[in-house]
Amino acid sequence: MPFVSFEGVDGAGKSTHVNWLAEQLRAHGKTVTVTREPGGTPLGEALRSVLLNQTMSADTELLLMFAARAEHLAQVIRPALARGEWVLSDRFTDASYAYQCGGRGIAENRLRILETWVQQGLQPDITLLFDVDLEIARERRAAQGEPDRFEREQQAFFERVRAVYLQRAQAEPRRIRVIRTDRTLEAIRTELLHMFASWWQV
Ligand code: TYD
Repeated sequence: MPFVSFEGVDGAGKSTHVNWLAEQLRAHGKTVTVTREPGGTPLGEALRSVLLNQTMSADTELLLMFAARAEHLAQVIRPALARGEWVLSDRFTDASYAYQCGGRGIAENRLRILETWVQQGLQPDITLLFDVDLEIARERRAAQGEPDRFEREQQAFFERVRAVYLQRAQAEPRRIRVIRTDRTLEAIRTELLHMFASWWQV
């Protein structure tokens, strides 16, 4: 069954859409596993807490992201797909390219080695990239509670993150669909329903 990932800079509003899409799928009789990265397993959630709170080098950050991902794939994603479930993941490897390569400046070829090793060819069937004006994203982050280590970054960091996301969408237009968020929630939901309509049958 399909593996769907949700991406975007902090403040793009993707998490709302993950839960809504899961409800729609369940209403169509699908079994859905909703999960997130970093996280998704007890070990992954422990690593998430470290990643979001502790200062560390960019290499450590990347390696911990992939350690959490290896566990997530082994314990949650691959078993759910094998059971025939839909898997909706709030972030996956595109976030590592955007944040660790774009944001932190790590060379992409390092990440590609980890991706090949850990994923062994498994990729999301579809990735929804929620694209937002960076000023709006900043206001949303400011309105949320205490910012984590990523949310405290400067706008220039988020500009680099967004640029990598959009480059990846251009390079892989069949997998990565850019969802413009400068519209009403209704308009976005209508687009998502259209996009998934042919998959309800699956
Ligand atoms: P986020 O999904 O924004 O959580 P929340 O909505 O609860 O704030 O995610 C966690 C942070 O982790 C986010 O700032 C992006 C970062 N991240 C990476 O830097 N690399 C990755 O590979 C992943 C999965 C997340």
